[in-house]
Amino acid sequence: MSKKITVKDVQNAKTEGRKLVMVTAYDYPFGLMADEAGVDIVLVGDSLGMVVMGLDGTVAVTMEDMIHHIRAVVRGCKKPLVVGDMPFMSYNTSIREAISNAGRLMKEGGCDVIKLEGGTDFAPTVEAIVKAGIPVQGHIGLTPQTASALGGFVMQGKDAAAAKKIIDDARALASAGAFSLIIEAVPAPLAQLVAEAVEIPVIGIGAGPHVDGQVLVTHDMVGLFDKFVPKFVKQYTQIRPTILEALAAYQKDVRESTFPGPEHSFKMADNTLEKLKKMM
Ligand code: KIV
Repeated sequence: MSKKITVKDVQNAKTEGRKLVMVTAYDYPFGLMADEAGVDIVLVGDSLGMVVMGLDGTVAVTMEDMIHHIRAVVRGCKKPLVVGDMPFMSYNTSIREAISNAGRLMKEGGCDVIKLEGGTDFAPTVEAIVKAGIPVQGHIGLTPQTASALGGFVMQGKDAAAAKKIIDDARALASAGAFSLIIEAVPAPLAQLVAEAVEIPVIGIGAGPHVDGQVLVTHDMVGLFDKFVPKFVKQYTQIRPTILEALAAYQKDVRESTFPGPEHSFKMADNTLEKLKKMM
């Protein structure tokens, strides 16, 4: 087994000019596949609210939900750095609660680092969590937990003032000790400026190619969840129709009694069967 990826490895990727590959996972099979595929970072994102739990957004996701899913993913991920996402209101009410909940994700979930959404306003929170010994990844630009306050799931940093605020957010989080940043749904030239403005790796989602790495929600990328596919998602495969075909074929087999066949059934010795019948 190759060695576990560390925060230092992630940071070195930027100085060495290596692009970082990050995907989401919410369970053991996807954790195993991400590990086998050789990605650098696996995010157990609160996007699980939408793509796994069938919620409308991420707001209702709880600490318990996150811990449950992080545990499963960690069992499959031996090599990638596993990021646990802090759910809405688990870090917003006080710094003390933020440290305590970040600690829970690591102690009870088993992730390597945590991620939280927010810019300059959350720099003191990030600083305190980092001081407590927990590496933090920031998340700026479109922050889904507060999407309604940002005008919905829409591109951020449209005008110069809004774009400057995002650059300020990145600088504040980097100064607070975040080891890396996610930047979501911003114009590509802005993301490039952000990546140039800070020394830590900036990983983009809907932020163009001129950043230090990319992250996608796996269920979007493999076509497992197609209720809403953001513009920035590239679908590398369409797994949903394949699963639907398999379910239809299984259904037909069961209804027509062509499954299970002899190859899927356990045998019983003839004499045992005879004996059993006499006992009935
Ligand atoms: O929750 C999540 O999956 C995320 C990604 C969109 C970066 O935060």
